Amino acid sequence: MEGPLQADKKQDTFITVSRDELLAGASKLSFDLFSVDLDKEDLEPRLLCRRGTSAAAVADILKERVFAKLLIRKEALQSFYDHMEGALSAIIDNPRLPTAKKSNLIYTCATKVMQDIYNDPRSGDNLARSRQMSDTIIKYTLSDPASIPSLLSLSSHDYYTFTHCVNVAVFAVGLWQFIGLGSEEELREFALGCILHDVGKSAIADAILNKPGRLTAEEFATIKTHPGKGYALMAESLSPTALDIILHHHERYDGSGYPESLQGDGISDNAKVAIIADVYDALTTNRPYGEARDPFAALLLMKEKMVGHFEQKKFIAFIKFLSNTRNG
Ligand SMILES: [Fe+2]
Ligand SMILES: [Fe+2]
Repeated sequence: MEGPLQADKKQDTFITVSRDELLAGASKLSFDLFSVDLDKEDLEPRLLCRRGTSAAAVADILKERVFAKLLIRKEALQSFYDHMEGALSAIIDNPRLPTAKKSNLIYTCATKVMQDIYNDPRSGDNLARSRQMSDTIIKYTLSDPASIPSLLSLSSHDYYTFTHCVNVAVFAVGLWQFIGLGSEEELREFALGCILHDVGKSAIADAILNKPGRLTAEEFATIKTHPGKGYALMAESLSPTALDIILHHHERYDGSGYPESLQGDGISDNAKVAIIADVYDALTTNRPYGEARDPFAALLLMKEKMVGHFEQKKFIAFIKFLSNTRNG
């Protein structure tokens, strides 16, 4: 996968950034910006703008001069992403940034937000960032039909709770829109529930979550507490629609799921969508106890070996949605 930023080959302490990314970001630079002049590409990068420089001043400089390269120090990468996270809405609206670039920025920022909220789920700031991120995913997927395949192409094939949550939100929001389940307000709450669906895992030891090989019955029982733990963590902060996804994403249509063994239409339409997205992403990524399957093998396994887990109508819609996005 091509990252949003490429390490500069000559100077591996620097990373190149694009003019459009810089201008799309927040109103002030939160890092030093360096440049290499045209025809002087063998020379060391020179400081062009100090952190704190206004975006308008940077824009003026970049209007007047063309550089061979614009760079930031590697240590400033996090500041650079913070700079972008505050401006994702403007980035989506920027017609000069290609879809692949927008997807990269959104996906990278989303994964970082997830990492932060799983590390500190009680932080109101992290919760506000999660909401902003799920709104961003909705805005982006509604604004550009190419956005969903583009975001999904970035999905890491390694399983981390953070990327898993972003992937599940993208699959679930895509399927939800494909089926057309309700109002935009409902979609916002649903998306937030999806991006936070495994937040209860923050209260479970990594040694159990990432254990290679089979879990003992006791360990599995501990894992099964994560929907209830997530619900309890977020009960005061989220709407019933978002909490429904956190609590019920491991229910199964035939009643064999957990924690409440809900059955059939006792599971909400929203949760039925999230359940499919969650299983599909888990099957198509590498996990401590199994290699990633390709999309066809994952769908076949869901169809043949997981009979009764999903509502068939939505599962068939999911297959159509996936084939549409891949051909789209
Ligand atoms: Fe889960
Ligand atoms: Fe999950």
